[in-house]
Amino acid sequence: MTIRALHVASELYPLLKTGGLADVAGALPPALIERGADVRVLLPGFPSVLAGLSDLRPVAPLGHPPLGGLPGGTAMTLERGTLAANGLVVYVIRADALYNRPGNPYLNDEHVPYGDNAQRFALLGWVAAQLAQQLDPAWLPHVVHAHDWHAGLAPAYLKAAERQLGRALAKTVFTVHNLAYQGVFPAHQFGQLGLPDDFFGVNGIEFYGQLSFLKAGLYYSDRITTVSPTYAREIQTLAQGGGLDGLLRHRTHDLSGILNGVDYTVWNPASDALLDTHYTATRLAGKIACKEALQKRFGLAQKSDALLFGVVSRLTEQKGLDLLLEAVPEIVRHGGQLAVFGTGDPALENGLKRVAQTHPESVAVELGFDETLAHAIVAGSDVIAVPSRFEPCGLTQLYALAYGSLPLVHCVGGLADTVADASLENLADDLATGFVFERFEPKGIAAAIRRAFALYGRRTEWKATQRRAMRQDFGWGASAERYLALYRELG
Ligand code: ADP
Ligand code: GLC
Repeated sequence: MTIRALHVASELYPLLKTGGLADVAGALPPALIERGADVRVLLPGFPSVLAGLSDLRPVAPLGHPPLGGLPGGTAMTLERGTLAANGLVVYVIRADALYNRPGNPYLNDEHVPYGDNAQRFALLGWVAAQLAQQLDPAWLPHVVHAHDWHAGLAPAYLKAAERQLGRALAKTVFTVHNLAYQGVFPAHQFGQLGLPDDFFGVNGIEFYGQLSFLKAGLYYSDRITTVSPTYAREIQTLAQGGGLDGLLRHRTHDLSGILNGVDYTVWNPASDALLDTHYTATRLAGKIACKEALQKRFGLAQKSDALLFGVVSRLTEQKGLDLLLEAVPEIVRHGGQLAVFGTGDPALENGLKRVAQTHPESVAVELGFDETLAHAIVAGSDVIAVPSRFEPCGLTQLYALAYGSLPLVHCVGGLADTVADASLENLADDLATGFVFERFEPKGIAAAIRRAFALYGRRTEWKATQRRAMRQDFGWGASAERYLALYRELG
């Protein structure tokens, strides 16, 4: 039997992206399709999503969703289109009053969440549940696979519909990409969701007197996954469970960690469409040209032997760049350089700018979001730093491995699962792929930075480590198989 699965998410590369969720939503469905599943995606109709799809056409009007506080007057419809690159079928909710806002899909220009986010994302979950009740006469999913809090109400609406209809509908999988974003809203908004009264409770979507879309996903889904084995363990602890560890421990037998993969059609130094110069593990010369171009682009001294550390990141507390800033003197002292590219928290942005002004020759910071520059940094750096406080999976270090830019990471979550430290024993056993520090403190990261310089001083070993990093296979194959097995178990 061909399994039909509907993925529900808020972003998808290349249509709309603020972080790794988009990369996963863009790559996992095609990987599942390649392995025989029939997979479609549901997204809110943000401007760039509508603009980026081909063959958009209406599927069904949405009538009157039972949600309070929806703006009246504008018609809402379900449409479908395709991604030109691979033919992926994408359903979109056209509801301009809710979604037709340029820029960040979650935050306004002042970096504050939109006041109507509960409605905006409740509608996403509600429409997913409608699709599982034949909203599209031509396609009915067996599995609804919801991603992160934005889609967290999909399993809840499905359970409510099953109760009302007295029969089973699609099975649900909920994937946590980041437990730190919980979709918490004031309790009084519960009345606007159109869910049965008893869904607001400890056994339901209530969370410390408020309501949480993430908890709804965790509580009502048939299976929970997260994006690395280590993070699956971490979130069941008091320290890293964000108040949901009790529920996660309770559901431990329904919870698994499945590592994210890399889309090597997008992230491959031999064929990267966004790079001017290409290279492979056996012909690394092109990487030197990428480094020169990067130093030039960032106004850094054109020194080919200066160890260049790169960062491409959302600038949030999670990413631990404050710790990296404390270690800048260690980089500068050894004659190294640092190029940082990212956007986010204004305080972090300013902190980074100040450090760059103090060390203009060796530290450069650029603020913004740009796919081409992200690729240029991953390709041109010697080391890619991902010193996150916590990291559910992390894709940047996986891209760095593929580009022979050795990742320097904190030993947490998916970072711990994917990078092997250049310790003497790992080097001796041909296992090293990067630099890993255990404790999130200045001494820890400084020691990892010193290991990077020490290895760089031994060029033969450095190159061997680069080649080993580039040979690692983090393609979607194995992970897509695991999701498929999960779907089959549910079926
Ligand atoms: P997270 O999802 O927590 O941000 P990941 O490492 O999983 O972390 O994914 C980050 C993704 O976002 C990667 O594809 C990375 O290249 C991209 N990215 C982060 N910051 C930027 C930026 N400023 N410009 C372009 N791409 C970025
Ligand atoms: C989240 C996490 C990141 C993960 C990504 C995709 O944004 O912060 O670690 O790689 O989702 O799953």
